[in-house]
Amino acid sequence: MASSMKAIQIKNTGGVEVLEHVTIERPKITGLTDVLVKNHFSGVNFIDTYHRSGLYKLSLPVVLGREGAGVVEAVGDGVKDIRPGDHVAYLSASSYAEFTIADSKKVAKIPDGINLKLAAASLLQGLTAWAMITQSYEVKKDDWILIHAAAGGVGLLLVQLVKNCGAHVIGTVSNDEKAKLAISAGAEHVINYSTQNVVDEVMRITDNKGVHAVYDGVGKDTFETSLACARRLGSLISFGNASGAVPPFEILRLSEKNLKLMRPTLFKYFETDEEFRKYTTELFTVIKEGKLDIKIWKTYKLSDARQAHLDLEGRKTTGKLILQL
Ligand SMILES: NC(=O)c1ccc[n+]([C@@H]2O[C@H](COP(=O)([O-])OP(=O)(O)OC[C@H]3O[C@@H](n4cnc5c(N)ncnc54)[C@H](OP(=O)(O)O)[C@@H]3O)[C@@H](O)[C@H]2O)c1
Repeated sequence: MASSMKAIQIKNTGGVEVLEHVTIERPKITGLTDVLVKNHFSGVNFIDTYHRSGLYKLSLPVVLGREGAGVVEAVGDGVKDIRPGDHVAYLSASSYAEFTIADSKKVAKIPDGINLKLAAASLLQGLTAWAMITQSYEVKKDDWILIHAAAGGVGLLLVQLVKNCGAHVIGTVSNDEKAKLAISAGAEHVINYSTQNVVDEVMRITDNKGVHAVYDGVGKDTFETSLACARRLGSLISFGNASGAVPPFEILRLSEKNLKLMRPTLFKYFETDEEFRKYTTELFTVIKEGKLDIKIWKTYKLSDARQAHLDLEGRKTTGKLILQL
Protein backbone atom coordinates (compact mmCIF):
# COMPACT_ATOMS: atom_id res chain seq x y z
CA MET A 1 0.00 0.00 0.00
CA ALA A 2 1.53 3.31 -1.08
CA SER A 3 0.20 5.17 1.97
CA SER A 4 1.96 2.83 4.43
CA MET A 5 5.58 2.66 5.52
CA LYS A 6 8.00 0.70 7.67
CA ALA A 7 9.07 2.16 10.99
CA ILE A 8 10.46 1.28 14.41
CA GLN A 9 7.79 1.98 16.96
CA ILE A 10 7.49 1.52 20.72
CA LYS A 11 4.17 0.98 22.46
CA ASN A 12 5.76 0.53 25.92
CA THR A 13 9.08 1.53 27.44
CA GLY A 14 11.70 -1.07 28.35
CA GLY A 15 14.56 -3.09 26.89
CA VAL A 16 15.29 -3.54 23.20
CA GLU A 17 12.38 -5.98 22.92
CA VAL A 18 9.98 -3.01 22.90
CA LEU A 19 11.41 -1.86 19.55
CA GLU A 20 8.94 -3.16 16.96
CA HIS A 21 9.46 -3.16 13.22
CA VAL A 22 5.97 -2.24 12.07
CA THR A 23 3.99 -1.14 9.04
CA ILE A 24 2.08 2.05 9.79
CA GLU A 25 0.45 4.90 7.95
CA ARG A 26 2.76 7.39 6.28
CA PRO A 27 2.74 10.83 7.89
CA LYS A 28 1.08 13.61 5.90
CA ILE A 29 1.67 17.34 5.64
CA THR A 30 -0.75 19.06 8.02
CA GLY A 31 1.13 22.21 9.12
CA LEU A 32 2.30 25.24 7.18
CA THR A 33 5.96 24.61 8.06
CA ASP A 34 5.92 20.82 7.63
CA VAL A 35 8.51 19.13 5.44
CA LEU A 36 7.86 15.50 4.43
CA VAL A 37 11.19 13.73 4.00
CA LYS A 38 11.73 10.33 2.36
CA ASN A 39 14.50 9.13 4.63
CA HIS A 40 17.62 7.45 3.28
CA PHE A 41 19.41 7.32 6.64
CA SER A 42 18.44 7.87 10.25
CA GLY A 43 21.01 8.52 12.97
CA VAL A 44 21.06 6.37 16.11
CA ASN A 45 21.78 8.37 19.25
CA PHE A 46 22.00 7.59 22.93
CA ILE A 47 18.90 9.73 23.49
CA ASP A 48 16.93 7.09 21.55
CA THR A 49 17.80 4.57 24.26
CA TYR A 50 16.54 7.00 26.94
CA HIS A 51 13.25 7.35 25.04
CA ARG A 52 13.03 3.58 24.69
CA SER A 53 13.83 2.91 28.37
CA GLY A 54 11.56 5.68 29.65
CA LEU A 55 14.33 7.78 31.26
CA TYR A 56 13.08 10.58 28.98
CA LYS A 57 9.28 10.43 28.68
CA LEU A 58 7.41 10.42 25.37
CA SER A 59 3.71 9.82 24.76
CA LEU A 60 3.18 6.36 23.37
CA PRO A 61 2.97 4.77 20.90
CA VAL A 62 5.76 6.59 19.13
CA VAL A 63 8.20 6.08 16.29
CA LEU A 64 11.72 6.50 17.71
CA GLY A 65 14.56 8.61 16.34
CA ARG A 66 15.68 12.24 16.46
CA GLU A 67 17.54 12.89 13.18
CA GLY A 68 17.68 11.80 9.58
CA ALA A 69 18.67 12.67 6.05
CA GLY A 70 16.81 12.13 2.82
CA VAL A 71 14.99 13.70 -0.09
CA VAL A 72 12.10 16.13 0.34
CA GLU A 73 8.81 14.66 -0.90
CA ALA A 74 6.45 17.56 -0.13
CA VAL A 75 6.32 20.81 1.86
CA GLY A 76 3.65 22.84 3.66
CA ASP A 77 2.34 26.07 2.11
CA GLY A 78 4.46 28.24 4.41
CA VAL A 79 7.81 26.68 3.43
CA LYS A 80 9.64 28.90 0.96
CA ASP A 81 13.29 27.86 0.92
CA ILE A 82 12.97 24.06 0.74
CA ARG A 83 11.47 22.26 -2.25
CA PRO A 84 10.55 18.70 -3.23
CA GLY A 85 13.67 16.95 -4.48
CA ASP A 86 16.04 18.83 -2.14
CA HIS A 87 18.57 16.74 -0.22
CA VAL A 88 18.18 17.62 3.46
CA ALA A 89 19.25 16.62 6.96
CA TYR A 90 17.00 17.40 9.89
CA LEU A 91 16.40 17.14 13.63
CA SER A 92 12.94 15.78 14.32
CA ALA A 93 11.12 13.09 16.24
CA SER A 94 10.17 9.82 14.53
CA SER A 95 13.10 9.42 12.14
CA TYR A 96 13.35 5.61 12.47
CA ALA A 97 10.93 5.37 9.54
CA GLU A 98 10.75 5.52 5.76
CA PHE A 99 9.09 8.95 5.95
CA THR A 100 9.22 11.71 8.57
CA ILE A 101 7.54 15.07 8.96
CA ALA A 102 10.09 17.62 10.17
CA ASP A 103 9.57 21.29 10.96
CA SER A 104 11.26 23.43 8.31
CA LYS A 105 13.01 25.35 11.11
CA LYS A 106 15.02 22.21 11.85
CA VAL A 107 15.67 21.14 8.26
CA ALA A 108 18.98 21.99 6.58
CA LYS A 109 19.73 21.71 2.89
CA ILE A 110 22.82 19.58 2.46
CA PRO A 111 25.59 21.44 0.63
CA ASP A 112 27.45 19.96 -2.34
CA GLY A 113 30.31 17.77 -1.21
CA ILE A 114 28.38 16.14 1.66
CA ASN A 115 26.31 13.07 0.86
CA LEU A 116 23.13 11.91 2.61
CA LYS A 117 24.92 9.28 4.67
CA LEU A 118 27.54 11.71 5.97
CA ALA A 119 24.86 14.30 6.69
CA ALA A 120 22.79 11.83 8.72
CA ALA A 121 25.91 10.70 10.57
CA SER A 122 27.03 14.18 11.48
CA LEU A 123 24.06 16.36 12.31
CA LEU A 124 22.93 15.64 15.88
CA GLN A 125 26.27 14.63 17.35
CA GLY A 126 28.11 17.27 15.35
CA LEU A 127 25.79 20.05 16.48
CA THR A 128 26.08 18.78 20.04
CA ALA A 129 29.87 18.87 20.01
CA TRP A 130 29.86 22.24 18.25
CA ALA A 131 27.45 23.76 20.79
CA MET A 132 29.39 22.30 23.72
CA ILE A 133 32.68 23.93 22.69
CA THR A 134 31.22 27.28 21.64
CA GLN A 135 28.29 27.77 24.02
CA SER A 136 28.43 25.50 27.08
CA TYR A 137 32.09 26.15 27.76
CA GLU A 138 33.95 28.21 25.17
CA VAL A 139 37.22 26.37 24.68
CA LYS A 140 40.31 28.58 24.56
CA LYS A 141 43.80 27.98 23.24
CA ASP A 142 46.02 26.14 25.75
CA ASP A 143 43.08 25.07 27.95
CA TRP A 144 43.23 21.61 29.45
CA ILE A 145 39.99 19.77 28.64
CA LEU A 146 38.82 16.36 29.91
CA ILE A 147 36.47 14.44 27.58
CA HIS A 148 34.81 11.26 28.84
CA ALA A 149 33.92 8.43 26.44
CA ALA A 150 36.37 10.02 24.03
CA ALA A 151 35.96 7.29 21.38
CA GLY A 152 32.16 7.53 21.33
CA GLY A 153 30.04 9.34 18.77
CA VAL A 154 30.04 12.77 20.40
CA GLY A 155 33.38 12.05 22.09
CA LEU A 156 35.39 11.65 18.87
CA LEU A 157 33.95 14.89 17.52
CA LEU A 158 34.67 16.78 20.75
CA VAL A 159 38.27 15.55 20.73
CA GLN A 160 38.82 16.88 17.19
CA LEU A 161 37.06 20.21 17.74
CA VAL A 162 38.74 20.91 21.07
CA LYS A 163 42.12 20.10 19.54
CA ASN A 164 41.38 22.43 16.63
CA CYS A 165 40.88 25.23 19.19
CA GLY A 166 44.49 24.75 20.25
CA ALA A 167 43.57 23.20 23.60
CA HIS A 168 45.04 20.07 25.23
CA VAL A 169 42.73 17.05 25.25
CA ILE A 170 42.70 14.36 27.91
CA GLY A 171 40.26 11.59 26.95
CA THR A 172 38.85 8.72 28.96
CA VAL A 173 37.90 5.36 27.42
CA SER A 174 37.18 1.81 28.61
CA ASN A 175 39.67 -0.17 26.52
CA ASP A 176 42.89 -0.01 24.51
CA GLU A 177 41.21 -0.09 21.09
CA LYS A 178 39.21 2.96 22.03
CA ALA A 179 42.34 4.61 23.41
CA LYS A 180 44.08 4.27 20.03
CA LEU A 181 41.12 5.84 18.30
CA ALA A 182 40.95 8.78 20.70
CA ILE A 183 44.66 9.40 20.21
CA SER A 184 44.35 9.28 16.45
CA ALA A 185 41.51 11.83 16.71
CA GLY A 186 43.83 14.22 18.55
CA ALA A 187 43.80 13.40 22.26
CA GLU A 188 47.15 14.22 23.84
CA HIS A 189 46.57 11.85 26.76
CA VAL A 190 44.12 8.99 27.11
CA ILE A 191 43.17 7.39 30.41
CA ASN A 192 41.64 3.92 30.47
CA TYR A 193 39.08 4.35 33.23
CA SER A 194 38.64 0.58 33.56
CA THR A 195 42.22 0.20 34.79
CA GLN A 196 43.53 3.63 35.80
CA ASN A 197 42.57 6.21 38.42
CA VAL A 198 41.30 9.15 36.40
CA VAL A 199 41.75 11.81 39.09
CA ASP A 200 45.34 10.74 39.82
CA GLU A 201 46.18 10.72 36.12
CA VAL A 202 44.58 14.08 35.41
CA MET A 203 46.39 15.68 38.35
CA ARG A 204 49.69 14.16 37.24
CA ILE A 205 49.24 15.43 33.68
CA THR A 206 48.15 18.94 34.74
CA ASP A 207 50.72 19.50 37.52
CA ASN A 208 48.02 19.09 40.17
CA LYS A 209 45.96 21.94 38.77
CA GLY A 210 43.13 19.98 37.15
CA VAL A 211 41.38 20.83 33.90
CA HIS A 212 39.66 24.04 32.79
CA ALA A 213 36.59 22.09 31.70
CA VAL A 214 35.17 18.58 31.69
CA TYR A 215 32.73 17.39 29.03
CA ASP A 216 30.89 14.51 30.68
CA GLY A 217 28.35 12.52 28.67
CA VAL A 218 28.73 9.41 30.83
CA GLY A 219 26.79 10.81 33.80
CA LYS A 220 26.28 8.83 36.98
CA ASP A 221 29.55 6.82 36.95
CA THR A 222 31.86 9.76 36.18
CA PHE A 223 30.20 12.76 37.83
CA GLU A 224 32.23 12.70 41.06
CA THR A 225 35.43 12.10 39.11
CA SER A 226 34.60 15.03 36.88
CA LEU A 227 34.09 17.32 39.87
CA ALA A 228 37.42 16.22 41.30
CA CYS A 229 39.25 16.76 37.98
CA ALA A 230 38.04 20.33 37.41
CA ARG A 231 40.46 23.04 38.54
CA ARG A 232 39.59 26.07 40.66
CA LEU A 233 37.19 28.25 38.60
CA GLY A 234 36.73 25.33 36.20
CA SER A 235 33.58 24.17 34.42
CA LEU A 236 31.78 20.84 34.44
CA ILE A 237 29.52 20.35 31.45
CA SER A 238 27.38 17.32 32.24
CA PHE A 239 25.57 16.61 28.99
CA GLY A 240 24.46 12.98 29.11
CA ASN A 241 23.54 9.85 31.05
CA ALA A 242 25.16 6.92 29.22
CA SER A 243 25.77 5.18 32.58
CA GLY A 244 22.59 6.53 34.19
CA ALA A 245 21.30 9.91 35.34
CA VAL A 246 23.37 11.92 37.83
CA PRO A 247 21.60 11.80 41.22
CA PRO A 248 20.51 14.99 43.04
CA PHE A 249 23.49 17.13 43.95
CA GLU A 250 24.23 19.62 46.76
CA ILE A 251 25.15 22.85 44.94
CA LEU A 252 27.06 24.17 47.94
CA ARG A 253 29.81 21.74 46.93
CA LEU A 254 30.56 23.91 43.91
CA SER A 255 31.96 26.58 46.23
CA GLU A 256 34.90 24.30 47.14
CA LYS A 257 36.52 25.42 43.85
CA ASN A 258 34.06 28.08 42.58
CA LEU A 259 33.06 25.66 39.84
CA LYS A 260 30.49 26.23 37.13
CA LEU A 261 28.17 23.29 36.55
CA MET A 262 25.98 23.09 33.47
CA ARG A 263 23.51 20.51 32.19
CA PRO A 264 22.85 21.58 28.59
CA THR A 265 20.71 20.02 25.90
CA LEU A 266 21.34 20.53 22.22
CA PHE A 267 17.74 21.35 21.40
CA LYS A 268 17.72 24.46 23.64
CA TYR A 269 20.59 25.91 21.63
CA PHE A 270 18.58 25.68 18.40
CA GLU A 271 15.18 27.05 19.20
CA THR A 272 15.18 29.72 16.52
CA ASP A 273 15.54 29.38 12.78
CA GLU A 274 18.62 31.63 12.85
CA GLU A 275 20.37 29.52 15.49
CA PHE A 276 19.78 26.30 13.56
CA ARG A 277 20.96 27.82 10.23
CA LYS A 278 24.07 29.36 11.81
CA TYR A 279 25.21 26.17 13.52
CA THR A 280 24.41 23.78 10.66
CA THR A 281 26.24 26.05 8.22
CA GLU A 282 29.27 26.17 10.53
CA LEU A 283 29.17 22.40 11.05
CA PHE A 284 28.87 21.55 7.37
CA THR A 285 31.69 24.01 6.62
CA VAL A 286 34.16 22.36 9.01
CA ILE A 287 33.22 18.95 7.58
CA LYS A 288 33.75 20.14 4.01
CA GLU A 289 37.06 21.73 4.96
CA GLY A 290 38.17 18.33 6.24
CA LYS A 291 38.55 19.60 9.82
CA LEU A 292 36.07 17.11 11.25
CA ASP A 293 36.31 13.45 10.41
CA ILE A 294 32.98 11.64 10.94
CA LYS A 295 33.63 8.01 11.70
CA ILE A 296 30.70 5.72 10.94
CA TRP A 297 30.90 2.61 13.12
CA LYS A 298 28.21 0.67 11.32
CA THR A 299 25.21 1.05 9.04
CA TYR A 300 22.28 -1.13 10.13
CA LYS A 301 19.08 -2.08 8.34
CA LEU A 302 16.00 -0.45 9.86
CA SER A 303 14.82 -3.88 10.96
CA ASP A 304 18.08 -4.27 12.95
CA ALA A 305 17.40 -1.31 15.23
CA ARG A 306 17.36 -3.63 18.26
CA GLN A 307 20.91 -4.73 17.50
CA ALA A 308 22.00 -1.11 17.08
CA HIS A 309 20.67 -0.27 20.55
CA LEU A 310 22.29 -3.37 22.05
CA ASP A 311 25.64 -2.44 20.53
CA LEU A 312 25.45 1.20 21.61
CA GLU A 313 24.38 0.45 25.18
CA GLY A 314 26.81 -2.48 25.36
CA ARG A 315 29.74 -0.04 24.82
CA LYS A 316 30.72 -2.02 21.71
CA THR A 317 30.70 0.94 19.37
CA THR A 318 32.93 3.86 18.47
CA GLY A 319 31.79 6.78 16.36
CA LYS A 320 28.37 6.90 14.74
CA LEU A 321 25.65 4.30 14.20
CA ILE A 322 23.11 4.85 11.45
CA LEU A 323 20.07 3.06 10.07
CA GLN A 324 19.65 2.73 6.31
CA LEU A 325 16.10 2.94 4.99
N1 LIG B 1 22.80 17.05 25.90
C1 LIG B 1 22.62 16.82 24.63
O1 LIG B 1 21.96 17.58 23.93
C2 LIG B 1 23.21 15.58 24.02
C3 LIG B 1 23.20 15.40 22.63
C4 LIG B 1 23.81 14.25 22.12
C5 LIG B 1 24.35 13.30 22.96
N2 LIG B 1 24.28 13.52 24.30
C6 LIG B 1 24.85 12.55 25.25
O2 LIG B 1 26.17 12.31 24.89
C7 LIG B 1 26.55 11.02 25.35
C8 LIG B 1 27.21 10.29 24.20
O3 LIG B 1 26.22 10.01 23.21
P1 LIG B 1 26.60 9.18 21.92
O4 LIG B 1 25.34 8.98 21.16
O5 LIG B 1 27.75 9.83 21.25
O6 LIG B 1 27.04 7.79 22.55
P2 LIG B 1 28.51 7.14 22.61
O7 LIG B 1 29.41 8.08 23.30
O8 LIG B 1 28.87 6.68 21.26
O9 LIG B 1 28.25 5.88 23.53
C9 LIG B 1 28.26 6.02 24.91
C10 LIG B 1 29.64 5.71 25.49
O10 LIG B 1 29.59 6.02 26.87
C11 LIG B 1 30.52 5.21 27.54
N3 LIG B 1 29.90 4.59 28.73
C12 LIG B 1 30.40 4.69 29.97
N4 LIG B 1 29.64 4.01 30.82
C13 LIG B 1 28.64 3.46 30.12
C14 LIG B 1 27.55 2.62 30.46
N5 LIG B 1 27.33 2.22 31.72
N6 LIG B 1 26.71 2.22 29.48
C15 LIG B 1 26.91 2.62 28.21
N7 LIG B 1 27.93 3.42 27.82
C16 LIG B 1 28.80 3.84 28.77
C17 LIG B 1 30.98 4.13 26.55
O11 LIG B 1 32.31 4.44 26.17
P3 LIG B 1 33.51 3.70 26.97
O12 LIG B 1 33.32 2.24 26.72
O13 LIG B 1 34.75 4.25 26.39
O14 LIG B 1 33.30 4.07 28.41
C18 LIG B 1 30.02 4.26 25.40
O15 LIG B 1 30.61 3.89 24.18
C19 LIG B 1 25.27 10.36 25.85
O16 LIG B 1 25.18 10.48 27.23
C20 LIG B 1 24.19 11.18 25.20
O17 LIG B 1 23.00 11.18 25.91
C21 LIG B 1 23.73 14.63 24.84
